Amino acid sequence: MKRVFLMLLVVSLIISGVTSVYGAETIKVGLITPLTGPIATFGQSVEKGVRMAVDEINAKGGVLGMKIELFVEDNQAKAEESANIARKFIEQNKVVAILGPVISSNTLAAAPIAQQSKVPLLSPTATNPRVTQVGNYIFRACFVDDFQGTVMARFARTGLGKRLNTAAILYEKTSDYSIGLAKYFKETFISLGGKIVAEESFSSGDQDFSAQLTKIKGKNPDVLYVPSYYDTAGLIIKQARELGINVPILGGDGFDSPQLAELAGKENLKNCYFSGHFFAGSKSPEVRTFVANYKKRYNAVPDMLAALGYDAVYMLADAIKRAGKVDRDAIRDALANTKNLKLVTGTITLDENRNPKKSAVIVGFDSNGNQVYKTTVNPPKK
Ligand code: PHE
Repeated sequence: MKRVFLMLLVVSLIISGVTSVYGAETIKVGLITPLTGPIATFGQSVEKGVRMAVDEINAKGGVLGMKIELFVEDNQAKAEESANIARKFIEQNKVVAILGPVISSNTLAAAPIAQQSKVPLLSPTATNPRVTQVGNYIFRACFVDDFQGTVMARFARTGLGKRLNTAAILYEKTSDYSIGLAKYFKETFISLGGKIVAEESFSSGDQDFSAQLTKIKGKNPDVLYVPSYYDTAGLIIKQARELGINVPILGGDGFDSPQLAELAGKENLKNCYFSGHFFAGSKSPEVRTFVANYKKRYNAVPDMLAALGYDAVYMLADAIKRAGKVDRDAIRDALANTKNLKLVTGTITLDENRNPKKSAVIVGFDSNGNQVYKTTVNPPKK
């Protein structure tokens, strides 16, 4: 009788992901992130933020008296790889929750696996609206692209000194993120009385944008919106300037990489702006402490992805604490009830669709290609 009970206990502990092979109780969490491939700085930054938060929490005794045990896998920014890693984390590593993936298309590939297995998945960074629509086990720590696209359309119409009346859009037709942002920018720009004079697209991996940019130049737009990641956005900005397109070029959070300036050329970032999640130079006490500790640890200034990775860990830890046990369903319920959680990138209260409402910052560049703060845009009340 006693043996049966003990066996049941062991089995249930293994299922819930509490034990490690060494017998010590840990909270197993898996991070899916692109450490190599075209957008590797995104994944590396998220990993840095996540590791820093995990180490801080563990140094203070962990959560519910248990240490967080972190598994990290490189998805190379590939959708299929993201799904495979999610499966591995769930079946082999027995994680209680998944952090990541980082970009929206990858998250859309991994989320259905987590949902089917009823494992909470929290993406620090995936902004496409469809991500959390996959199901009630899927969460994010960032704002959503309908907000982000709207913010930049409004900025184009009213934020740059004079009203810009005509816009061109150049987006990546193989990216859920890019397709979404192009759509939201377009809708808002038109609703504010502007006109879209050109809509061009490209496929992932493209490097030569001269055909699209030549067409765009022929339409003489007041502003160009490029909702893509730094690897392509950097080349597009460079090629646009070389073609004599000198109007403002706007983008989304995908511009946030130290490599943008290298690819675009610092001088070409003049008159470029993007929307994002956090500004490292902000005076808020949360940001200052985070930036100082990050500099101490990594000898670098954290970007938005590092900040969101860091926040996602604290969001998960907060949920586990409130759940009171290391149980996937209990953690899901607690995550869904995240309220007034003050973090580095803002205060998080999740709505009924598991999305937070957070402010966006608009960032520009100085002549050395360094980011400069332009303004903060708060989300609509309703
Ligand atoms: N929002 C992007 C996506 O969903 C990922 C990203 C977040 C990129 C933050 C840069 C900064 O694909």
